[in-house]
Amino acid sequence: MKRIAVLTSGGDCSGMNAAIRAVVRAGLSNNLEVIGIQKGYQGLIDRQSEQLTTKSVSGKLQMGGTFLQSARCSEMLEDAGQELAVENLKEMAIDGLVIIGGDGSHRGALALQKRGMKTIAIPASIDNDIPFTDMSLGVDTALNNIIHAVDCLKDTASSHDRTFVVETMGRNCGYLALVSGIACGAEYALIPESDYDIDEICKNLRRRFQEGRDNSIIMIAEGAGRAQDVADQIKDRVGFETRIMVLGHYQRGGSPSTFDRLLAARLGVSAVEALLNGTSGIMLGLSCGAIVQTDLEKVTQGGLRAIDSTLLKLAATLGI
Ligand code: F6P
Repeated sequence: MKRIAVLTSGGDCSGMNAAIRAVVRAGLSNNLEVIGIQKGYQGLIDRQSEQLTTKSVSGKLQMGGTFLQSARCSEMLEDAGQELAVENLKEMAIDGLVIIGGDGSHRGALALQKRGMKTIAIPASIDNDIPFTDMSLGVDTALNNIIHAVDCLKDTASSHDRTFVVETMGRNCGYLALVSGIACGAEYALIPESDYDIDEICKNLRRRFQEGRDNSIIMIAEGAGRAQDVADQIKDRVGFETRIMVLGHYQRGGSPSTFDRLLAARLGVSAVEALLNGTSGIMLGLSCGAIVQTDLEKVTQGGLRAIDSTLLKLAATLGI
């Protein structure tokens, strides 16, 4: 193995730069050339690449986003796009490819592996919906972003007796809303994995108000509904002054947390080691503190990661 490539694909997240850096530094320490593919699979199809050196990754570790940039690429879903991608990799004399991204990116990685390119995937998505890893890159930083925002909102909610409904990202996964709800002491965390009853919520809010607890935070995952709809229903039924905050893409950015930097370093180095050991067609992940490998075939067939039932139980015990 002489030359490897790295790309970031799908929605960006904090820690991607740290992972690219780890791949580059581990590659160079093992006398490999490392090529950065720009704009994810799109850049692979359009042949947009650059040689990466220690200088290219200097000062990037603490930056959010991805300096290689990312994209969602529909051409990679088609045979022609996949063939062209492999052809371009072969022309660039790439022996192995590290793909940093979410579930769509892993399907792309498997398609390239099946067409003869050695691929290693690194799970990166704030949603924490990728199976076979306890945590994906970017989740911890996103949670810290959410917690910072909600702590600020609690100050103003308590000053005005208001109910705030805070909408998190997560696609069809409620992990961000649930975990931030626990960590922020929210009254509710509405997630797609569990049904909720708006009448019951209004009844409880009224009871809390009568007990003198006159402000509240309700977290809602984007997959469970819209913050505005919930806020309107509470206002109509209980008459409380409600405000909403849709956290949106703010959650994805910012300097990566220590957890994400360390995870990025471990996953990036393990990806290069796996290629050097002749392993490919796998996704790396974190399981009980250890870096583990799972076949991409299994990862892509496994469906999305289910919410840990102990988290649901914890939230219920705490009255969320
Ligand atoms: O998958 C990451 C994510 O941020 C989701 O939480 C969200 O639904 C989606 O991407 C937003 O996508 P885009 O950046 O294309 O608007």
